[in-house]
Amino acid sequence: MATVATNANPPALELHSYKEMDHETLQQRIRAVREQMAERLLILGHHYQQDEVISLADLRGDSYQLSQMASASRECRVIAFCGVHFMAETADILANRPECLAERDGERVTVILPDMAAGCSMADMAAIEQVEDVWDDLGEVVDTDNLIPITYINSAASLKAFCGKRQGAVCTSSNAAAALEWAFERGQRVLFFPDQHLGRNTAKAMGIPLEEMCVWDPYQDELGGNTPEDLQRSRVILWKGHCSVHQMFRPEHVDQFRERFPGIKILVHPECPMEVVDLADISGSTGKIIREVENAPPGTKWAIGTELHLVNRLKQEHPEQEIHFLSPVICMCATMYRIDLPHLCWSLENLQAGTPVNVIEVDEETARWALVALERMLEIR
Ligand code: 13P
Ligand code: SF4
Repeated sequence: MATVATNANPPALELHSYKEMDHETLQQRIRAVREQMAERLLILGHHYQQDEVISLADLRGDSYQLSQMASASRECRVIAFCGVHFMAETADILANRPECLAERDGERVTVILPDMAAGCSMADMAAIEQVEDVWDDLGEVVDTDNLIPITYINSAASLKAFCGKRQGAVCTSSNAAAALEWAFERGQRVLFFPDQHLGRNTAKAMGIPLEEMCVWDPYQDELGGNTPEDLQRSRVILWKGHCSVHQMFRPEHVDQFRERFPGIKILVHPECPMEVVDLADISGSTGKIIREVENAPPGTKWAIGTELHLVNRLKQEHPEQEIHFLSPVICMCATMYRIDLPHLCWSLENLQAGTPVNVIEVDEETARWALVALERMLEIR
């Protein structure tokens, strides 16, 4: 018997045909969806996105700003998140929190990530099972009632929920110091994951000596490579995770730029190793990096240590300043780069056709507890 096609579950539009379209066609089609959906669609873009994508974003920002935008979105019913997976999860949790659902009579905001392969290698360095095991192991040597878990926003929703359940919070690169202060008002020590560099750089800048920090390597059997005394002495226990992009910046790059360009300012993201941040003039989130450049007098010389697309955009947008990329090798976030015009157009047209693809929806229980930690993050400044 022949199969009768119905409209109940129309097949999704295929991605491969979009890959063959030229940029102009893709841009026109994306704009057409935007026009049709008007305020029901919000395209959010992280600063590391490629130019052709960021130019189509309604709003752009760093992780903290994008969370605020998702949280404040009242009109939209769809968020197309041009960033990475943990950011889209965060947007889903915040845009669909109970008070917002009640305002919309239960209607959800659909969050789509144009390419599901847009993950974050740092976020993948801490899995919930590992963090739960570490917490149990730590309980053998320190009092976990006095231990506050802080997760960097670059982590899975399950880790945020872990923090929400245990008096902890989420932080971003723009409020990490405030988050650590907040934690020390509530406990004696902090377990900070997954980025050891942001944790170390922030704690050090707050005056916590390196002897009062230790690194927990989840792949070492015995207390993450520490003695009980190491852990008892530590106020900050750092997870052994890092960003593969930012670890490429080295102290010798700073020295080379200072030698070649006297007076140059070194501006870096706090995911860079401590040896680089210590030498830099300024460190901060992608939002702060942009503000520093925008507010500097013409003729300022900069060497910037963060993802290549953002640095190249700053160069284009600020020809009145002299901007260099801090590393001699290309440091770009390959997963952010997965989001391109074909994927954006494909995911938006599928949405329009009633065959949504790449929908990010955090399960209810995880979202409930992750929201607790995210609301703390939004309050801590
Ligand atoms: P920001 O919060 O500074 O935008 O950083 C996000 C990120 O992933 C940096 O690698
Ligand atoms: Fe993750 Fe690093 Fe990419 Fe940021 S730059 S999204 S931390 S891999």
